[in-house]
Amino acid sequence: MGVPTAPPGQGRGVSQPAAAPDPIEDPAPSTAGGATITPYRDGPLIVRGDFRLLDQDGAEIDPGRETIALCRCGKSGIKPFCDGSHKRAGFSAPSAPSRPRPAARILRQGPEGDPAR
Ligand code: FES
Repeated sequence: MGVPTAPPGQGRGVSQPAAAPDPIEDPAPSTAGGATITPYRDGPLIVRGDFRLLDQDGAEIDPGRETIALCRCGKSGIKPFCDGSHKRAGFSAPSAPSRPRPAARILRQGPEGDPAR
């Protein structure tokens, strides 16, 4: 199964991220109760479920489909959607962070480094 990359009539439609998981072994996560956002290794952010896409002024952007791919490489010609340009650009990024965000570390340790907070 390909990853949708752009709304109908825009871009090339479907791409195959190089490291996309096999949909048979790795089915789409449950979206019950909201949306899921999955950073694909070396590829876009896949958004599934019940979501609204807004520009920074609050104007609705019609996603054109229920599952969309948002560009995170910065090379797409149809931002905010992915058009597959990440492959040609050799974009590389992990699917999950390799370490916690600094703010998350601070929250876990508390302001004085107290692990109880
Ligand atoms: S992530 Fe696909 S074009 Fe940027």
